[in-house]
Amino acid sequence: MTDPRIALVTGASQGLGLAVTAGLAARLAPTDLVYLTSRDPGRVARAVDELGDTRATVRGRVLDVAAPDAIERFAADLEEQHGGVDLVVSNAATRITPAEPPAAQTDALIKTSNQATVRVLRSLAPILRPGGRLLVVASSFGTLGHLDPRLWPLFDEARSLADIEAVLTSWRDAVHTGTEEQAGWPRWPNIPSKIAQVAAVRVVAAQRREPDLTAGTLIAAVCPGLIDTEASRPWFADMSDAQTPEQAAAALLDLLLTPQIDPAHYGELVRAGKVLPWHGNETAESRRIN
Ligand SMILES: NC(=O)c1ccc[n+]([C@@H]2O[C@H](COP(=O)([O-])OP(=O)(O)OC[C@H]3O[C@@H](n4cnc5c(N)ncnc54)[C@H](OP(=O)(O)O)[C@@H]3O)[C@@H](O)[C@H]2O)c1
Repeated sequence: MTDPRIALVTGASQGLGLAVTAGLAARLAPTDLVYLTSRDPGRVARAVDELGDTRATVRGRVLDVAAPDAIERFAADLEEQHGGVDLVVSNAATRITPAEPPAAQTDALIKTSNQATVRVLRSLAPILRPGGRLLVVASSFGTLGHLDPRLWPLFDEARSLADIEAVLTSWRDAVHTGTEEQAGWPRWPNIPSKIAQVAAVRVVAAQRREPDLTAGTLIAAVCPGLIDTEASRPWFADMSDAQTPEQAAAALLDLLLTPQIDPAHYGELVRAGKVLPWHGNETAESRRIN
């Protein structure tokens, strides 16, 4: 991997993103640079302050992943200033809440989690340097086993990011016309959203697998497990077995910083170093583990 290394974490002003950024800042070299990014200038500045003195340099930047062209412009800046990027964690997510109807929250979720994931893969994967890592934070709901089998071909037959965008459009249209349950879509939008994130990783990985593995480059989706953050708290009465963001960040940091990638992880959904089967369904556990 090129030295100095450049890292980018989206949605890094709090929660898991901040913990991953802190871990990178502590473990990368003093010559390395970590971009702590999120949508709100005040919260970005506060998060940088909170990290204090770090081993690697931390640079706060506003990156609203839902803003038109923002990811593309950020990628162009990285290329111009550093010639590429080494570590990317696509983590930003909008919060959904049990207090509002799921259908009212689907558009925001698609925009922030899914369209942003597609745009990260489109604009940052091409400038990932050999030996680099690009992780998309999904969850263990991101496997097809959580979905009505009638919908599996939509994802299984996707060959490009444009195909994934078409699936997202058809899901969103079904939600807006009130036909989603008839078509097999679950009411809880987190499931299709997380599956579409993993599917996007899978189509890009299928296109780049051989050269990436030769170069030691990893593109994968990850599920961090249940974390005690403002995002998860409204969903669970008992958070006693939830991890802290720092605990959840540990497995991601291992994937980001290991000198030797495991080819079995490439293009897959990885939880604590283990691949979750794409057609599997860990329903019993996933309610607690995420
Ligand atoms: N918490 C869990 O149990 C759990 C389980 C499985 C998977 N995950 C996944 O882990 C990731 C992080 O979750 P978390 O619990 O740490 O969430 P969180 O505490 O809500 O943090 C989300 C981060 O994303 C940022 N964000 C929101 N919209 C954005 C936008 N448009 N552009 C840029 N940044 C934006 C937020 O910024 P602000 O500070 O401005 O709000 C915040 O920094 C998500 O992808 C989530 O789906 C979480």
